[in-house]
Amino acid sequence: MQIQDIPKAELHLHIEGTLEPELMMQLAKRNGVAIPYKSVDEIRKAYEFSDLQSFLDIYYAGAAVLQTRQDFYDLTWAYLERAAADNVRHVEIFFDPQTHTERGIAFDVVLDGIHDALEAGESKLGITSRLILCFLRHLSADEAMATLELALPHTDRIHAVGLDSSEVGHPPSKFTEVFDRARDAGFLSVAHAGEEGPPEYIVEALDLLHVRRIDHGVRCLEDAALVERLVREQIPLTVCPLSNVKLRVFDTLAEHNLAKLLDAGLCVTINSDDPAYFGGYIGENFVQTQKALALNAQQLKTLAENAFKASFLPADDIERHLADVDAAFNATPA
Ligand code: HPA
Ligand code: ZN
Repeated sequence: MQIQDIPKAELHLHIEGTLEPELMMQLAKRNGVAIPYKSVDEIRKAYEFSDLQSFLDIYYAGAAVLQTRQDFYDLTWAYLERAAADNVRHVEIFFDPQTHTERGIAFDVVLDGIHDALEAGESKLGITSRLILCFLRHLSADEAMATLELALPHTDRIHAVGLDSSEVGHPPSKFTEVFDRARDAGFLSVAHAGEEGPPEYIVEALDLLHVRRIDHGVRCLEDAALVERLVREQIPLTVCPLSNVKLRVFDTLAEHNLAKLLDAGLCVTINSDDPAYFGGYIGENFVQTQKALALNAQQLKTLAENAFKASFLPADDIERHLADVDAAFNATPA
């Protein structure tokens, strides 16, 4: 069996991070937005990062080409087509409204464009989805609260809230009240924690933000009591191997701690984070990680199962997907 054929769920994917250089150039032209690159090659060459912040600077600048509902539709549709090629069956997608509202793009333009594409993804590609609104943690809690206000009329289309952007110096505790309000309004919650930040941020995300999953979380291994808790409570970690290497969380994929996380009994999943910037979609993350860490068929199956179990899908849908994963692995041994 090919890794490509494994039925997959993707739970850690920033839609703005799927903006391929070709589409960036096309939208820059279509909208008359100046970008500091003359060609697709020049854009690709700029994607050398030393840490999270060096990436975020380029990522936020690139998002400036996204202006209209059609742009957000095109962006999201391109991702879904790519995901379908990796046999992705379900996606839970992050969007960063503040990246756009700060530039004068209306919240509803962003949401409508993404949502239209997600609906087409379900009807045309059979990919189900959930949308997660991420607050930019380098901005204030007041600004996050104002963004939450904009989302309140859309609980039918936005399922959960999350927390992303520059981690160190912006602990989850900064957003306790925002997440309290979000949960009162019926949103589930997740948060990036333990990517560059310390294990204490993971503990805060659990205790103060009451998150259902930790995005990244790879630094949990520095705290044995935390690992024990994450295992006991089966809190999913949405790990992004190629991202972690590109942003220098690990020097090489062979040094990534994903196999150790699995061995510890953690509910680990594989995801692509910002695939247009990090050199690979979810299938490529599976393929390269399998190779670098010599993951066996059982480990691959566990990773695939974990993603469906960790999703926000109803229990009967999860069971159906797990049966599909089982069938794929039974068809021919990996
Ligand atoms: N970490 C934090 N913020 C982000 C990331 C990430 O990996 N990707 C997009 N925004
Ligand atoms: Zn991320």
